[in-house]
Amino acid sequence: MKKLLLLLALSVTGMRYGYSQSATNLTITANDSKLTISRHIYGQFSEHLGRCIYDGFWVDPKLQVAKQDRIRLDVVEALKKINIPNLRWPGGCFADEYHWRDGIGPRATRPKMVNTNWGGVSEDNSFGTHEFLELCKLLKTEPYIAGNMGSGTVEEMAKWVEYLNCSAETTVTNLRKQNGHPEPFKVTFWGVGNESWGCGGNMTPEFYSDNYRQYATYARDYPGTPLKRVASGSNGKDYNWTEVCMKNIGRSMWGLTLHWYTLPTGDWGKKGSATQFDEKEYFNTMKNCLEMDEIVSKHSAIMDKYDPGKKVALVVDEWGIWTDPEPNSSVLYQQNSLRDALIAASTLNIFNNHCDRVKMANLAQTVNVLQALILTNKEKMLLTPTYHVFDLYKVHQDAKYLPIKFESPDYEIDGKKIPALNVSASIDANKVIHISLVNLDANKKISIKTSLKGLNWSTVSGQILNSEKLTDVNSFENPNKLKIAGFAGASKQGDELVADLPAHSVVVLTLK
Ligand code: AHR
Repeated sequence: MKKLLLLLALSVTGMRYGYSQSATNLTITANDSKLTISRHIYGQFSEHLGRCIYDGFWVDPKLQVAKQDRIRLDVVEALKKINIPNLRWPGGCFADEYHWRDGIGPRATRPKMVNTNWGGVSEDNSFGTHEFLELCKLLKTEPYIAGNMGSGTVEEMAKWVEYLNCSAETTVTNLRKQNGHPEPFKVTFWGVGNESWGCGGNMTPEFYSDNYRQYATYARDYPGTPLKRVASGSNGKDYNWTEVCMKNIGRSMWGLTLHWYTLPTGDWGKKGSATQFDEKEYFNTMKNCLEMDEIVSKHSAIMDKYDPGKKVALVVDEWGIWTDPEPNSSVLYQQNSLRDALIAASTLNIFNNHCDRVKMANLAQTVNVLQALILTNKEKMLLTPTYHVFDLYKVHQDAKYLPIKFESPDYEIDGKKIPALNVSASIDANKVIHISLVNLDANKKISIKTSLKGLNWSTVSGQILNSEKLTDVNSFENPNKLKIAGFAGASKQGDELVADLPAHSVVVLTLK
């Protein structure tokens, strides 16, 4: 009888407080270490591919939108709002066929080339070094340039860095002055090749790492602009590539890259649709997405062997969902659904939780390509659900990382299981705590109870991204179907934070 009364009392308390007794317990602890979540984890990628640069950022002079030169300003304004910290350019595979001298000087006389990687289209080089750096200036973002190692020479790369960063008078810097930029551009993030195991030259890791040493030597540090040299790293689970690069290059690089894309079916031949999928395919997609955690952990463990002080960054400079393109669309153009938002939010949680090693990452790609933040159609543009995740998560940029412990409930389908809940947390310079929570379960809400050890707070507010269906998208006809809304499902109960997270939602809580 006593037991029954106790149970009754507990469930009444639970009902009053609005949380279920089977809540998942989270513990967030104040962290004494200096570990911060680098803002560069929130980087973007823009390649000469499909309609990302041309007809995305850089548009027809006749298009009736606000522009500076040919840079589309509504796109710039939207990206400024989410504080993009760096922008990677010109590729991707395109980078290893790009010759920078073709993209400077009077546009009318710039050489034309064929973009062999992406549709065999003509590249008129109207968007080159100066145009990219003007775009970065407008975006208030740091440029991250990928130099050509696949088909370019050591001299070509060396001269590009001189053109960008040298203040002494040389033939190359005079050319920069002649092209309208007397002062050095001061570019620091410098990629030495891209996917050198594949489109960037089909190299072995041994051959690549020897080449890296040569190219990186002559890509000089000019006064006031030490380069952060980033070596071309592994294709997903190729751990040997990381092992060889760490052994042969070690601390002579600032960072080593990793590329990992989420394929809904896991099959490069038939990746799956961006908008038409059932719950099983959704489950499979999320399972593939969450693999990022194990992949990052395994590369980090190898890096730890050679670099226990964690000086070399793991730079995940290509990630995101890669689906079949939309029918009759431009190269790698895909729609973006609530599923994409859950992928972005979960992946960013993984990176935040690995911020001791992952110091930079770049979503592929910013506009009109793969998991885009923005889609454009002539004068129209829309913000994708993925954009809204970057908007929600910008609070973590350069904030101090807070460790979290919890055991996630399972999301189960056909006897297969994935963790339904993923979370990351940080505390900013004003001592405001942010917790980003993702409920991947397609059907069930998750109740959480959180104790925050050593942290002071008295109020909680929240924001949510959710929609009725996982396949919901923002379209040009209905561009605001998915947008950030206020979240009232969290409260302080005693010393604990309790919340109910709706099925398939992203919630960011602010504790003050
Ligand atoms: O992001 C699209 C392509 O994917 C990039 O050009 C290449 O680096 C990767 O294979």
